[in-house]
Amino acid sequence: MENEQSNIESERRNAHIGYRSFDSLLYILRNDLGLQGPRFGCGLGQCGTCTVIINGVAIRSFITPTSTVKSEITTLEGLAKNGVLHPLQQAWIDEQVPQCGFCQNGQS
Ligand code: FES
Repeated sequence: MENEQSNIESERRNAHIGYRSFDSLLYILRNDLGLQGPRFGCGLGQCGTCTVIINGVAIRSFITPTSTVKSEITTLEGLAKNGVLHPLQQAWIDEQVPQCGFCQNGQS
């Protein structure tokens, strides 16, 4: 049952979507918009794998109801600009930081 709607814009897409007020932002981003940067990890807001940026602030998308988001969302996919990695992304590559890489989106 859909009872709310929103425009969510990312570097890859601008979609008008329907959702229930309690739907997790993480699931809207992943399942409805196909943005695979944020991931489900602990489900408690502690591991950071679901992190996105809203108004310049790192937010745990799994514990954020989509209905509470009224601003631009930046996911891992949106950090690089015009094919150039964000300096932090480049530093991760240069320094070979990732081990398994699962938490990487929450770290950068
Ligand atoms: S799933 Fe662990 S912080 Fe979001």
